[in-house]
Amino acid sequence: MSSIRGEFSSRFGFIMAAAGSAVGLGNIWGFPTQTASNGGAAFVLVYLILAFCLAYPALMAELVIGRHGQANAVSSLQKLANSPLQKKFAFTVGFGGIICAGLILSFYAIVAGWMFSATVEPIAAVTGLVSTSTWLNTQSLPRDLIFTSLFIILTIAIISKGVENGIEKWSKRLMPALLSILALLIIYVMTQEGAMEGLKAYLVPDFNSLLDPQLLVSALGQAFFSLSLGTSVMIIYGSYISKKENLVSLGAYVTLIDVLIAFVAGLLIIPAMYVAQAQGVAIFSESGALLSEDTLVFQVLPALFTSMGDIGYFVGFAFFALMSIAALTSSISMLEAPVSYAVEKFALGRVQATWIIGGIISLVSFTIIFNFSALFGFVISLTTQFSQPLIGMLCCIFVGWIWHRNKLLAEIKNGHAEAESTLFWKVWPWYIKFVCPLAIAMVFIHSF
Ligand code: PFF
Repeated sequence: MSSIRGEFSSRFGFIMAAAGSAVGLGNIWGFPTQTASNGGAAFVLVYLILAFCLAYPALMAELVIGRHGQANAVSSLQKLANSPLQKKFAFTVGFGGIICAGLILSFYAIVAGWMFSATVEPIAAVTGLVSTSTWLNTQSLPRDLIFTSLFIILTIAIISKGVENGIEKWSKRLMPALLSILALLIIYVMTQEGAMEGLKAYLVPDFNSLLDPQLLVSALGQAFFSLSLGTSVMIIYGSYISKKENLVSLGAYVTLIDVLIAFVAGLLIIPAMYVAQAQGVAIFSESGALLSEDTLVFQVLPALFTSMGDIGYFVGFAFFALMSIAALTSSISMLEAPVSYAVEKFALGRVQATWIIGGIISLVSFTIIFNFSALFGFVISLTTQFSQPLIGMLCCIFVGWIWHRNKLLAEIKNGHAEAESTLFWKVWPWYIKFVCPLAIAMVFIHSF
C-alpha cells in the first residue's frame, strides 16, 4: 500500500521535507520579531526550552499517528479509535487539522506573494524598469492577486508531482539553497556597523523577563506554529515514513533544524535591525521597544538595502528569495494535508485533487485580499492562536489516553528495536498524557 501512496525515498529526503515544512516565514520573520518585542535573549531561552520540552514531544505524537496509520490524517486517527464515538472524535480532529492547514495556506500565500514581488523588485530596478519596480513595491489589489496566484500555482505544481518527485525532490533542492543564502547574508550583516550591539541584545538574556506569562504564551505559540503542529501536516508526513526508520531520531532532527534555523535567522535579523538603526532608520522607541513588527520586513529592511548602494539590490534580492523559498517548502506541506485526504477519500487522481483544492484555497485567499482589514488578522488568530494549539492538544490526548501503551510502543519500535530501554520511552508517554495537554491548555486559555 505504501508504494501506491508514495513514501519518502530516504532519511535525508524526509528530514528535508519535514524541516522544509517547519522552516518558513515563522522562523525567518516570526521568531526574530517576537524575540525583538519580547525582551531579546530571554525569549530565545524560553523558546528553546519549550521547543524541545513541549513542541518536540507533540511533534512525535503527530508523526507516530501518521506512521502507524499509513494514511491521510482522518483515517490515521480513526485507526486508533475503539468506539463509534471515538471515531467521530478522530474525524473531527483530523478534518479540523486539514481545514486549519488550508486556512493557514490561504493567508500564508498572500504574505508569500509579497515576498515574491519583493524578490522581483530589485531585478526590475536594476534593469531600468522603474515604473514596474515602483508598482511591485506598492501594495495594491492587482499586485496581491497576481503574486498570491503565482505562489499558489507553484505550490500546486510541486504537490501534483507527488511525494518523491514533488515534495521530496524540491525540498532537497530548496532547503540547501535557503541555508546558503542565509549564511551569506549573515556574514555580510556582521561586517556592518551596529551589528555587535544587536548580537549582544540577542544573546545576553535579561533574567527579569524570564517568567513573564506573556513571554511564555508567545514562545509556545511560536514553537507550535514553527513545527507546523495541529494542522495534520506532520501526521501526513509521518505516514510517508518507512517502517524501517527510527522515528524518535527523525523527529529530533527536524526539531533541531527548525530551532537552529530560527536561531540563525535571529543572528541575521536582530543585528540587521541595529545596523539599520545605526544608519538612521527608526526601529526602536526610546524605551527600546520595537516600533512595528509589520513594517520590519517591508520598510525597515528595504531601507537598509537601499542605504547599501548598488550591492543593496543584490542583498535585497537574496533576502526576499530566501523568504520565498522558506515559504514555498512550508506551503507545499499545507496543501498536501487536504490533497492526501481527497485522493484517498474520494478516489480522485492526485493532479485533479491538487488543482481542485488549490483552486478552492485561492478563492479563500482572494476573499481575504478583497476584505483585508476584516479577514486577514482574523484568519491568522483563528488558526494560529485557536485551532493549532487545540488540535495539537487533541492529538496528544489521542496518543496518551486512547492509544494502548503496548501498541504505541510496538509502533515506536519499528526501526528502533531498543526503544523500550531508552529515556525517551520512559518519559514521553507520561509527558504526552499529562504535561503536554495541560501546558497547551494553559497557553490556549491564556490566549483568550
Ligand atoms: N512552520 C511554518 C513556518 O514556521 O513558517 C508555518 C506552517 C507550515 C504552519 C505548515 C502550519 C503548517 F501546517
